[in-house]
Amino acid sequence: MTVKQKILIVDDKKENIVALRHVLREVEAEVIEANNGNEALAATLHHDFAVGLLDVQMPGMNGFELAELLRGEERTRELPIIFLSAADCDAEYLFKGYQAGAVDFMLKPFDHRVLVSKVEVFLRLDRQGRELKEALRQLSERTVELKDLVEELESFSYAVSHDLKAPLRSIDGFTRAILESQAGKLDEQGIQDFNRVRAAAQRMGLLIDGLLELSRITRHQLKTRPVDITAIACEVAARLKDAEHDRNVEFVIAPGLCAEADEHLLRAVLENLIGNAWKYTSKKPSARIEVGSLPGDGRTVYFVRDDGAGFDMAYADKLFSAFQRLHRSADFTGMGIGLATVKRIVVRHGGRIWAEAAPGKGAAFFFTL
Ligand SMILES: Nc1ncnc2c1ncn2[C@@H]1O[C@H](COP(=O)(O)OP(=O)(O)OP(=O)(O)O)[C@@H](O)[C@H]1O
Ligand SMILES: [Mg+2]
Repeated sequence: MTVKQKILIVDDKKENIVALRHVLREVEAEVIEANNGNEALAATLHHDFAVGLLDVQMPGMNGFELAELLRGEERTRELPIIFLSAADCDAEYLFKGYQAGAVDFMLKPFDHRVLVSKVEVFLRLDRQGRELKEALRQLSERTVELKDLVEELESFSYAVSHDLKAPLRSIDGFTRAILESQAGKLDEQGIQDFNRVRAAAQRMGLLIDGLLELSRITRHQLKTRPVDITAIACEVAARLKDAEHDRNVEFVIAPGLCAEADEHLLRAVLENLIGNAWKYTSKKPSARIEVGSLPGDGRTVYFVRDDGAGFDMAYADKLFSAFQRLHRSADFTGMGIGLATVKRIVVRHGGRIWAEAAPGKGAAFFFTL
């Protein structure tokens, strides 16, 4: 239901009030009258006005003085005012408070149609202002609701993941115990099956660790400071080469890359992206992995590019969701949690991540912070 808007009219002369009421009868609003400034101020305590029509020349408090008082009150600070004044009054010069809100002037005798259309403009503005305020209120309510919901889901998945780990440890532990204590009684097939159970339990444990890590990022308090991206990328590259020194991979890491970020989380981003580049180039006899930056509009775009297996861009959005993988485990091992983690970290820094790739032609991951 829409509440009827209200117009305040202030004039010390009864005949003027009657005339104004007559003019305003065609306007869709309730008219409230006051015979002097004090009555007008009292009326603003009981009503929410969309516009005020103030006579300038009144005994006691004149229209300008009343307007200044209205501007000083929180409730009426932004009340649009139309001054109705005699032609010999230098109205604009006299009223100093007009910066605070909409003000208009009508010189007597005024054209009724002009007054009505001015009043209608202010009524429309008031209506739109109210609608906007209501929309904003609903939006902020929804935002709070959504935030609560996300937090709830987050702690739910954290708790569940945590609780799942204990039974998994039992499955793995007891299977191992059977393998040890019953070694003599189990045939080859039995041993193999029990080993499969163990491997599956261990993999599930790793998946749960991934989920826990993911929700840890959302809870992690960001501590931003200048981070030397070049240094971290070089460390990650050195570690990868160390672990598989027979691979022929050329790293091209741009010097002087830095960012204002949470070092711990940014390290995880680089470990995941460079780790992926390393993994998805492993089928090639030689590869090249590049880490660098491009000037974006206003924000630096960082990238990690490789010339490995690549992927079909049709699935590019999926990559950043947990457990989504574009390659078979038989070709490349992994759980599909890395890029989901990276995306969360980038988003927590207020940034964006996207990819460009083609099957067999390599992949590039770009992000801002
Ligand atoms: N550099 C890359 N080249 C080609 N494909 C990639 C590359 N990086 C990611 N992908 C594709 O995106 C998928 C998701 O990557 P993500 O890092 O999340 O998982 P993952 O590497 O499979 O497993 P992990 O959780 O161990 O990182 C991968 O399975 C792969 O298909
Ligand atoms: Mg990965």
